[in-house]
Amino acid sequence: MGNYKEFYRRSIEGRDAFWAEQAKLIDWHRPFDSVLDYSKPPFAKWFVGGQTNLCHNALDRHLKERAEQKALVYISSETGQQQTYSYRELHAEVNRFAAILQSQGVEKGDRVIVYMPMIAEAVFAMLACARIGAIHSVVFGGFAPASLATRIDDAKPKLMVTADAGMRGGKIIPYKPLVDEALRLAQFPPEKVLICDRSLDKQLTRVEGRDLDYASLREQHLDATVAPVWLESSEPSYILYTSGTTGKPKGVQRDTGGHAVALIASMRHIYTGQPGETMFTASDIGWVVGHSYIVYGPLLNGMTTIVYEGLPIRPDAGIWWKIVAENQVNVMFTSPTAIRVLKKQPPEYLHKYDVSCLRSLYLAGEPLDEPTARWIADALQVNIVDNYWQTETGWPILSSVPGIEDTPRKFGSPSFAAYGFDLKLLHESTGQEVGVNEKGVLTAVPPLPPGCLSTVWGDDKRFVETYFSSFDNQQVYTTFDWATQDADGYYFILGRTDDVINVAGHRLGTREIEEAISAHNNIAEVAVVGVHDEIKGQAVMAFAVVKDPSRTATPEAAALMEKEVMATVDKQLGAIARPAKVHFVTLLPKTRSGKLLRRSIQAIAEGRDPGDLTTLDDVGALEQIRNAVAGK
Ligand code: PRX
Repeated sequence: MGNYKEFYRRSIEGRDAFWAEQAKLIDWHRPFDSVLDYSKPPFAKWFVGGQTNLCHNALDRHLKERAEQKALVYISSETGQQQTYSYRELHAEVNRFAAILQSQGVEKGDRVIVYMPMIAEAVFAMLACARIGAIHSVVFGGFAPASLATRIDDAKPKLMVTADAGMRGGKIIPYKPLVDEALRLAQFPPEKVLICDRSLDKQLTRVEGRDLDYASLREQHLDATVAPVWLESSEPSYILYTSGTTGKPKGVQRDTGGHAVALIASMRHIYTGQPGETMFTASDIGWVVGHSYIVYGPLLNGMTTIVYEGLPIRPDAGIWWKIVAENQVNVMFTSPTAIRVLKKQPPEYLHKYDVSCLRSLYLAGEPLDEPTARWIADALQVNIVDNYWQTETGWPILSSVPGIEDTPRKFGSPSFAAYGFDLKLLHESTGQEVGVNEKGVLTAVPPLPPGCLSTVWGDDKRFVETYFSSFDNQQVYTTFDWATQDADGYYFILGRTDDVINVAGHRLGTREIEEAISAHNNIAEVAVVGVHDEIKGQAVMAFAVVKDPSRTATPEAAALMEKEVMATVDKQLGAIARPAKVHFVTLLPKTRSGKLLRRSIQAIAEGRDPGDLTTLDDVGALEQIRNAVAGK
């Protein structure tokens, strides 16, 4: 055990030496010439000139010592399947997959979209891309064809990997028809679609010449060995789309060397996982948590990772603890929403299994409220570590760092700055640092540490303008989160400064949902806000102005219209973005210059004071919001 303050100080004041030390945790095919090239702020290039490969570091590197150790355990409570892959077996599967990709002409730098349920093959696909230097872009399986098409057109993939279907809550969800529709909508569809047929969807159809069958190609490449393609450290490893202020999702681009170093270092220092131990991250590979802590982090660190397809409450609320006990899980990671869901279940499930192997439970993605944190801490008798980060950073910005020093944690706070992050809380308009317990925007002084986004895919300008241009007098990275810091240095996150909604730990853009709703032919205008929800943190609420008022004139007609709007969102974006409620109004609150006052709408919807309304154009609009929420 060391002293975290000292460790942190070295990461900032002795930055290059600090990260050179961390870089020893991975294999380099060619050593780097310099730790950091920061000649073009705010673009940071880490470990310049070094050559490495993520897949080599996640698999090949471990073969000497742990070939027969479990690398991946796939468990599906949906299909009842369970399959274990040792490092040797996973290495073989990934080599086969890489050979299939190569046989279809996929090369270094080509993009591959992965639109898959939570199955082992999704992980093979990601690692196979990394092996050959192709750039994967995993799209969450819950996204609708139109969303998928937007991402396809931005990434312009050479090939796409999908499955016939996924399963959720016992229901088969065909994926392939969604892919067909997305490819029909896309301007730049991939040439090939590789389909992993799980025999779930009996109606699976294939397009001659475009669609490929994974199982038969795998047979052809059973003995394939594919040498890792060495990449220069700052060459891209993946793109992951995330929501922001505008309707168009941003492609967060991650590098190779910095990413590998940041993740393995975080496994050791923050998540305290030892090689040979087991980690269970209950998330989805479609989100950043899945990328970092289902796939890359645990494997880079020589651990066993659990890939779980299913809900936390099926077949019953004990399923996670059964998995923990049976697989001797040491470290677990999930979202506060999942814990709140479990809190509503009968308590006996928490004590049905022996979970004494579990040391720590890491929670991230949304605010962790104190009652939930206390409840799970008492029930499991494990360390609860609230950690705060973003798709953009790929690993924690705020966290206690128990691998270095097990500092006391305060409920409701993700503790303090993770090593490498030089944080400042700035006043929204003056850009001055705020005082103790004063609310400010959480920012980081660049260069950002290794592992953070290197740019927005294909749009350097957007990278600078979105993340580094919030303050006139200084170039700092903004997290778009409000926070305070107490006298002991602990941070408290208060929510987003922009129009991002966080539903069950998933980031949704208000503009994205508004654009989806506007696709309905009877919608003239709409405002979407996130309102407090006891389980999911926030829920989506929409206030819409219709073109033809007769279609909302009676309660029955309005209910029908609401259903139609919800279905439009399902179709455009996917059910995760569906509003929990759609209210119909004739006017939306705007400033005289026409800017939608989302913050005031949100305040009213949550029963709070709407704040400064001097710029409001028509007070009647707010009255309508108030009445709609009150059900008048
Ligand atoms: O608002 C913050 C919230 O989630 C946002 C990032 O979401 P995403 O890009 O999906 O990445 C999630 C990675 C864990 C942040 O801007 N957030 C994340 N973690 C926390 C949090 N809010 C409060 N407490 C947290 N621990």
